[in-house]
Amino acid sequence: METVVSPLDNTEFDVDTVRRHFPILGSRVHGHPLIYLDNAATTQKPQAVIDAIVDYYTSTNANIHRGVHQLSVDATRMHDNSRAKVKSFLNADEIAEIIFVRGATEGINLVASTFGKERVGPGDEVVITAMEHHSNIVPWQVLCEQQGANLRVAPIDEQGQLLWDDFESLINKRTKLVAVAHVSNALGTVNPIREIVSLSHQHGAAVIVDGAQAAAHMPVDVQDLDCDFYVISGHKLYGPTGIGVIYGKRELLESMPAYQTGGDMISSVTFEQTTYNTLPHKFEAGTPDIAGAIGLGAAIDYLKQLDWPAVCAHEEELLTHATDALSSINGVRIIGTADEKRAVLSFVIEGAHPHDIGTILDHEGIAVRTGHHCAQPVMERFGVPATIRISLGLYNTRDEIDATVCAINKVKEVFRC
Ligand code: ALA
Repeated sequence: METVVSPLDNTEFDVDTVRRHFPILGSRVHGHPLIYLDNAATTQKPQAVIDAIVDYYTSTNANIHRGVHQLSVDATRMHDNSRAKVKSFLNADEIAEIIFVRGATEGINLVASTFGKERVGPGDEVVITAMEHHSNIVPWQVLCEQQGANLRVAPIDEQGQLLWDDFESLINKRTKLVAVAHVSNALGTVNPIREIVSLSHQHGAAVIVDGAQAAAHMPVDVQDLDCDFYVISGHKLYGPTGIGVIYGKRELLESMPAYQTGGDMISSVTFEQTTYNTLPHKFEAGTPDIAGAIGLGAAIDYLKQLDWPAVCAHEEELLTHATDALSSINGVRIIGTADEKRAVLSFVIEGAHPHDIGTILDHEGIAVRTGHHCAQPVMERFGVPATIRISLGLYNTRDEIDATVCAINKVKEVFRC
């Protein structure tokens, strides 16, 4: 293990320094230094996040909003602080608009079960794109089945980009909701969210953005995007698993029925009637993942001290380098070549199954994801059963990409492909 150094105290972005903040990056796998290129599945955690969680359980653990005793007061304050950090990170207008959930999937399900059930009726339409993750397909499919509504899918081109004219033609007065990824987890495509929101709003449709793959790779400003809902997962943002956020515009959240019911989401309960708590608590029934929220707050603190333009430029340079290097290998087909992409590079190699390639790379200490990436319709669109996916994080290096390309060349020798 490499020594863990204290967090940066300035805004310099130096990848070697940053790497030392992530203890797992000093590991060896199958005798090789770990090369972690599966950041779209989950990111690694800086020591600051690990410490925040350990410190919370070591010195503050108590339930929140429920006690007059000191630990409960302290835990409540820390939880509230994390919400304020998320508000600032997403540039929401108010703290009340930040709801903690388990992850992006739960955020989408929350909107489908509340806003969706109230607003989408027989004959109405929900529009998604052909590049969505299953978590932004299935909740809408189920909602449409339940409500007698229709799911419409906007197609994508050979590069994996939304076909704008087709998308535009799908939006009409029956469209009640548009659900779209900010960045595709399987292709890396960045969608034109502002334009999507503007068009949808002209027709009276609300927009939910799946930001799971965006928030770690670009600044997100929900007010600028003007989206109605935006969901993120903490674990894809260098924070812990089990915590995520849904941002929603206050007037919509106010008008929506509760998602789950129980403790803390109520204002008063009698056997005859229950009145609900104010936002954001109305949507947070039961004891939340307190440590998770605190860990997410620590991840945001960590990210905020970095020079973001430099982080984005670093990831962009790595993506370009990896794309160029892989494109030059005979038999490699890159799946997803959008003009605007972030952090994801999916590909197949003629004559070798992605799972076999993933296994061989693992033996070299290289972690990539292989499979359909929970985006089976994307695989179908490109006529492949699966891809190999390199996905970048801020701590990856050019040397790691070169080592991976070298390993892929070895794989080709093994398979003689
Ligand atoms: N959605 C995550 C991925 O793309 C799990 O790998």
